[in-house]
Amino acid sequence: MPRFKNILVTGGAGYIGSHCVVTLLEAGHEVIAIDNFTNSVEDEDGSPALQRAEKITGKKITFYKADLLDKPQINAIFDKHPVDCVIHFAALKAVGESMQQPLLYYQNNLLGMLNLLEIMRSHNCYQMVFSSSCTVYGEPEHLPITETHPTGSITNVYGRTKYFIEEMLKDLSAADDKWNIISLRYFNPVGAHPSGLIGEDPTKEFTNLMPFLAQVALGKKPVLTVFGTDYNTPDGTGIRDYIHVMDLASGHVAALNLLSQTHIRLKVYNLGTGKGVSVKELVNVFERVTKAKVPLKYVDRRLGDISAMWADTSLAKEELGWSTQLTIEEMCTDFWRWQTMNPDGYPKKTKKTEIVV
Ligand code: NAD
Ligand code: WQD
Repeated sequence: MPRFKNILVTGGAGYIGSHCVVTLLEAGHEVIAIDNFTNSVEDEDGSPALQRAEKITGKKITFYKADLLDKPQINAIFDKHPVDCVIHFAALKAVGESMQQPLLYYQNNLLGMLNLLEIMRSHNCYQMVFSSSCTVYGEPEHLPITETHPTGSITNVYGRTKYFIEEMLKDLSAADDKWNIISLRYFNPVGAHPSGLIGEDPTKEFTNLMPFLAQVALGKKPVLTVFGTDYNTPDGTGIRDYIHVMDLASGHVAALNLLSQTHIRLKVYNLGTGKGVSVKELVNVFERVTKAKVPLKYVDRRLGDISAMWADTSLAKEELGWSTQLTIEEMCTDFWRWQTMNPDGYPKKTKKTEIVV
């Protein structure tokens, strides 16, 4: 039995949250998940992703439809359940939308976090794992990127919400040593659970490479637009550190283990593979392992994109005892299995249910 038994997962119905819930249940944790379904599918019984997580693991999840902006609702959940640690995934994450609607992003991501921290404190719960992002680094000054790389020169509002939250966490842990927090800076999460039962199915518009690539391979979109062929990279296309979502999930269990054993106050870790893969390389691997054809159209660079980014993963290896296990081939195969088994994503039902605490 892990030392932290009851884990509250915010944004548990979302892409990374639902995969992490599977890994948490398999590691012996009890999960209380909350989500307001702004970017995940809801059905008559709640979250189809979490129902499938129950099917995969044979374990039960306590789920509440709840919004972090609704303080009384979140407070009531904490009143009802003793929470040992919170994993905070819930956020809005679309870079383009964040530039058009900055207040929506500041309200949801910053106020949501503030509410959560206040409620945690009032319930004597001081342990948290926070979903941060490699986006906090902005344009890299050196590669691979270590956790000590400067942060804050970010040109999009979404990324700034992650940066501001990290700054807020620094102030909080400096002011009160009861807090014990790990901020995980994810690189580019892709892939799906190997069962093909759960995967990425956002309800908002998405622009990320892997889901777009899969839609083109499925014939749902005609062509994959490759943004930029003149980067200073070996094949001219952008380079990223793609990480399998199941490896990312196990990174959270490693973070929980460290938090439960050591009072670290606040630590930041990169979660990536340490390897950079270009757009062209990813498309080639995807076509090879899936046997699907992906028509490409080359266009100019996308505004705000950086050229190349990959993680230095040595700190996570040393201190969390964690490293990735899954290859780029497995990321493509597992994502494709999810897409072909669920070409329209999770079954969507029309009737909405309110789950009242
Ligand atoms: P996601 O959109 O699939 O999941 C987030 C979930 O949070 C969604 O189900 C959404 O409905 C929920 N949510 C949002 N605001 C909420 C609120 N106020 N109250 C309750 N629920 C709310 O996104 P994801 O890809 O699973 O990302 C999870 C976290 O990881 C986010 O914080 C994101 O910023 C971060 N992250 C994601 C990536 C990526 O590329 N996917 C990379 C780095 C960091
Ligand atoms: C990857 C590469 C594109 C789509 C985003 C967020 C960032 C973080 C991770 C949350 C780039 C190229 C893409 C397409 C393409 N998320 N591309 N055609 O840009 O690294 O970052 O996700 O924290 O905040 O900004 O990811 O998947 O959009 O792009 O050529 O249709 O694929 O130019 O080189 P990115 P991405």
